Amino acid sequence: MSIKTATMNGIATLEIARPEKKNALTIAMYEALTGAIGAAIAERTVRAIVITGQPGVFTSGNDLEDFMQRPPASADSPVLRFMDALRLCDKPVVAAVTGAAVGIGTTLLLHCDLVYVSDQARLAMPFVALGLVPEFGSSVLLPALTGRVRAAEKLLLGEPFTGTEAVELGIANAVLPAEEVLPHARRMAERFNALPPAAVRDTKRLMRAGLNEAVTRAIQAESGVFAERLRSPEAAEAFQAFFQKRKPDFSRF
Ligand code: COA
Repeated sequence: MSIKTATMNGIATLEIARPEKKNALTIAMYEALTGAIGAAIAERTVRAIVITGQPGVFTSGNDLEDFMQRPPASADSPVLRFMDALRLCDKPVVAAVTGAAVGIGTTLLLHCDLVYVSDQARLAMPFVALGLVPEFGSSVLLPALTGRVRAAEKLLLGEPFTGTEAVELGIANAVLPAEEVLPHARRMAERFNALPPAAVRDTKRLMRAGLNEAVTRAIQAESGVFAERLRSPEAAEAFQAFFQKRKPDFSRF
């Protein structure tokens, strides 16, 4: 199974483990992640969740083959259910970004509470280059965190960035040597074991309340446009180019 879960010392760890495809996320993997978050929420003794990847890669984002063959079709699609489970999770979620975080791999960090990044990691939201648009509230959350012009470099130009820049942008807490990322994230998550869980829950909810409505509206607007864009000739060219290992050519559009 490409999602491994383990619960130890009050922490549920969700590990994305599909290294042969750079941890690209399939429908089955979204379903497994959603189930694992639900199980962690239901288990009283779990006080925090850690999401991590493999050495050198956190996730290369949505599986592009899946995007072409089985695009998300409704508001009830597995990817939407996963992102809802993540953003509405009432326990703290800590990300240990072990390497490349592309597309939804960076988007999901905007919904985590604490984010630690490997000094080897490259982050990117290359939606425009794929003929797509930002997703899951990032069109609102990223400008809110970084300011609009810096968000434009990441979302309009799709410029990749390092962990250090992610910290400067306010997306991540700290950059660590690759082998230290997961142990550090775990130690930070374990701190919640000594804190009163209801106060943690209420604080998390209050911290998010201000942007909640705007994020919910953005997700609805983004997913409509995203679904249209997935069917566009621009996206078809971008996806074919990726699998043919060549540069896309948008000159005819
Ligand atoms: N979906 C499907 N397959 C993917 C994938 C994805 N998102 N990302 C990587 N893969 C596959 C590649 O097709 C390749 O498969 P192959 O061995 O059968 O040819 C394998 O994973 C290794 O990828 P490769 O690109 O050769 O690795 P790399 O180390 O050179 O680069 C990345 C790693 C993550 C930088 C690069 O794979 C990448 O940019 N992936 C696309 C990410 C993307 O655009 N995601 C956005 C989705 S919205």
